Amino acid sequence: MGYPHPPHPKETVVLSQYFGDPEARTYEGWKKRGGYTALEQALSMAPGEIIEIVKESGLRGRGGAGFPTGLKWSFMPKEKTKPHYLCCNADESEPGTFKDREIMRWTPHALIEGCAIAQYAIQAEVTYIYIRGEFTEPLAIMQQALEEAYRHGILGKDAMGKKGLRLDMYIHRGAGAYICGEETALMNSIEGRRGNPRIKPPFPAAYGVFGMPTTINNVETLAAVPHIINRGAAWYKSLSLSSPKSTGTKLFSVCGHVRKPGNYEVTMGFPLGELIYDLCGGMREGRKLKACIPGGSSVPILNREETESCLLDYEGCIEKGTMLGSGGVIVFDDSADMVYQIMRLARFYAHESCAQCTQCREGTAWTVRILQRILAGEGEMKDLDLLLELAEQMTGKTICVLSDSCAAPVVSGIKKFRDEFEAYIKGARRPVTALA
Ligand SMILES: Cc1cc2nc3c(=O)[nH]c(=O)nc-3n(C[C@H](O)[C@H](O)[C@H](O)COP(=O)(O)O)c2cc1C
Repeated sequence: MGYPHPPHPKETVVLSQYFGDPEARTYEGWKKRGGYTALEQALSMAPGEIIEIVKESGLRGRGGAGFPTGLKWSFMPKEKTKPHYLCCNADESEPGTFKDREIMRWTPHALIEGCAIAQYAIQAEVTYIYIRGEFTEPLAIMQQALEEAYRHGILGKDAMGKKGLRLDMYIHRGAGAYICGEETALMNSIEGRRGNPRIKPPFPAAYGVFGMPTTINNVETLAAVPHIINRGAAWYKSLSLSSPKSTGTKLFSVCGHVRKPGNYEVTMGFPLGELIYDLCGGMREGRKLKACIPGGSSVPILNREETESCLLDYEGCIEKGTMLGSGGVIVFDDSADMVYQIMRLARFYAHESCAQCTQCREGTAWTVRILQRILAGEGEMKDLDLLLELAEQMTGKTICVLSDSCAAPVVSGIKKFRDEFEAYIKGARRPVTALA
């Protein structure tokens, strides 16, 4: 179980500092590396003070939407009349994204420490860590780390020796549904219901898990919190290469046609081109970069020029018409068949749609059928307009954005690689018969 690469000199290693170091996994190893000092410091502050520090740091959610973390925490009721909950979103099912898995595999105590600080700041007595069902190894590692944390008095009654403070954490294992990563579906799943997203409002801070005030944060977001408490909001804010609205480091999971795929941690605003050509060793022998999806499969595709000039932060991605999302960078070289790739993505969304909203249930399925028709050489030119019209009906009209996520690669794909779609329709490209 090795870690694939030693840190590249251009990486800014914060969250991934101990990736590949098995000793950091244990309670003793984590303590030796300065673990749980941030929690100790946080517990000497008032909850509101911690929220202010996190706000000041500029930390934004790493699960996809990029919502400011401190602001989210501040929505929790200050007067405590009901139990409060924290949910750690460790579902990580977005195609191309595999960074939360590595945080849990190598530094489980970093996540527990981040959760404990957040839990104290929002005055929650319980944290549920919702782990993707397929993550058997991270699950075992997290379970062991939780047992250690209880055994050493970090969690449980009089947590960290603080009289009257109770911090409990439970792992809830998912069962293989992508939709359960959506925060309200995740809460339904924890409650033992079908993982269907809920209509918002009410927002989780008002009516969350078991109808109680709840905050949901991604693994990477929570794992960043101890560093902010230890090293200060100003230090975190200073980690920014372009926009002051995007601060800190970010783990990018790079997959596809690069020589060295893997997780790379860089400062916000790092150039996407440098990530691909320098850190990941560039494209495979004799191949050229064709396209890239920078934020997990749910965001618009970039062509080569856009990829090479894109800065990896929230604003830089928006400027190129895409999104930073979860930071799953999927790279395609010039051997990639974009029509086929887009159909594969659409098929994933069609399979994972919870089928609650008509636009999503029907839209994702019809998108796949039309794309398969084109690939089979049976498409017509008007199918391209039909796909775009369908995508419009699938965007901004459903309870959650799974449907929008299916539409984004289709719309950007047709816009940027229309010639490939037309080649199938005109019979200039050999039909794909095996649509596996
Ligand atoms: C279909 C769908 C799947 C999602 N999957 C995940 C996921 O696996 N992990 C995650 O952290 N966020 C996921 N999200 C985003 C969450 O709804 C939520 O925004 C996030 O957990 C909030 O944490 P953050 O503010 O720390 O980013 C998903 C959203 C949608 C619409």
